[in-house]
Amino acid sequence: MDIGAQEHVAFKGTVGILGAGRVGTAIARLAVAAGYRVKVATSKPAADNELIIEIVTPGAVAVDAAEAAASDLVVVAIPLHKYKSLNADALGGRVVIDAMNYWAATDGDIADFENTHLSSSEVVSAYLADSRVVKSFNHIGYHEMEPDAADPETPDRRALAVAGDDENAKSLVAGFIDTLGFDSVDSGDLAAGKSFEPGTNIFNGRFNAAELAHALQHSLATA
Ligand SMILES: NC(=O)c1ccc[n+]([C@@H]2O[C@H](COP(=O)([O-])OP(=O)(O)OC[C@H]3O[C@@H](n4cnc5c(N)ncnc54)[C@H](OP(=O)(O)O)[C@@H]3O)[C@@H](O)[C@H]2O)c1
Repeated sequence: MDIGAQEHVAFKGTVGILGAGRVGTAIARLAVAAGYRVKVATSKPAADNELIIEIVTPGAVAVDAAEAAASDLVVVAIPLHKYKSLNADALGGRVVIDAMNYWAATDGDIADFENTHLSSSEVVSAYLADSRVVKSFNHIGYHEMEPDAADPETPDRRALAVAGDDENAKSLVAGFIDTLGFDSVDSGDLAAGKSFEPGTNIFNGRFNAAELAHALQHSLATA
């Protein structure tokens, strides 16, 4: 498997964000700052979120989940134990970034994630069967996203791993990540997303692109 700088394509479409918590709002602010049209939704009706979205993510629009799901690129940032509350049909055909982690301490023990050799994103992808799921953003704290975002030329710019089974989707996501302020490193297919799940060195660290590629290589070599 090749690990290395992820090819990326420029992306100018609409960004939908499912989840208006810590991660969803941080990504929404970065995406607004990068010039995207950003639609944020929770499981509640848009009207319930309008005021909070206006205050917490100025420039983004509160919408219903179905409208966010119809965006060109969709970020899912909800508690993983709620993944089956996502509307898989509405997300069909979409490129979906899975920013979620399985964290038994907060999610509780979930058989779907405990009794399997699959990465958590493969489980999510099996549920979102018609979406092109790409795992990223899960191994950076929400509170680090804005302070660590930097211009492309910045030395030692922080890098995020990108895992997915669809090369075009990964390229799109890499382009999005670049505009938000991070390098990205292709870590391989969705199964390889295990390399940066909770409990791994990558999950617990902060890396530039070269360091992250090295850590991913090492992680796969010892898997
Ligand atoms: N916290 C971090 O630093 C961090 C970093 C990287 C990744 N993550 C992962 O990112 C995910 C989100 O974490 P968080 O800390 O942002 O959680 P959070 O603050 O608890 O926010 C979760 C959000 O998801 C919404 N939600 C729940 N079900 C939904 C659905 N079906 N459709 C749309 N929105 C829905 C919730 O609103 P309603 O309940 O009102 O619908 C809430 O706005 C988790 O899987 C976590 O492991 C966390």
